[in-house]
Amino acid sequence: MTIDDAIKGRRSIRRYKDKPVEMGLIREVLEAGTWAPSAKNGQQWRFTVLLGAAKERLTDLFRAELEALEERIGSDQMGSSLNSCGIMEKAPVLIMVWNAGERGWDSEVHSVAAAIQNMLLKAHSFGLGSLWIADIFYAHEPLVKYLGKPWKLMAAVSLGWPAFAPQPPRRKPVDEVAEFLS
Ligand SMILES: Cc1cc2nc3c(=O)[nH]c(=O)nc-3n(C[C@H](O)[C@H](O)[C@H](O)COP(=O)(O)O)c2cc1C
Repeated sequence: MTIDDAIKGRRSIRRYKDKPVEMGLIREVLEAGTWAPSAKNGQQWRFTVLLGAAKERLTDLFRAELEALEERIGSDQMGSSLNSCGIMEKAPVLIMVWNAGERGWDSEVHSVAAAIQNMLLKAHSFGLGSLWIADIFYAHEPLVKYLGKPWKLMAAVSLGWPAFAPQPPRRKPVDEVAEFLS
């Protein structure tokens, strides 16, 4: 796979086959994350891999929290959170991604984001589908409390064998997003 195949061919995959992902592949995806650049080489990323019943317990909690929130704030305020919860319920693998940085630097967050991108690309290189999920923020506090880690929860990443190949969403051309000064 060329670098362009990896970068441009990766898609957010929201439907997975009902087929497990081998532990060796999961570990290789995590290892790719650990090769990301990081602020002061702090390697601030931490990962909690959830499979089977452990994943189900977390998504049950997430769904219960979302339903309680929906009661309070109304369904029009829920964004894509309920949809993301459905994806997390069906994905065979869910990785909770933490920032263990202690400085409070923005760059610690950037390090963790770089690790996530590496993981998505590595997953894609295996033919695995992945989704970067920020919707966990709709129930951030209860999820952190439940998982009981001292770190900051950044995102969830779902992994699985793709059941659908989406078209790439349109990208803004370089001239729309870059300026060149000389
Ligand atoms: C920081 C971040 C958070 C995201 N959170 C979600 C999410 O909670 N739910 C979801 O379905 N997709 C989520 N996505 C996926 C984006 O919707 C997706 O990357 C975008 O639409 C472009 O599509 P592509 O990834 O196939 O290129 C997230 C992506 C990023 C980078």
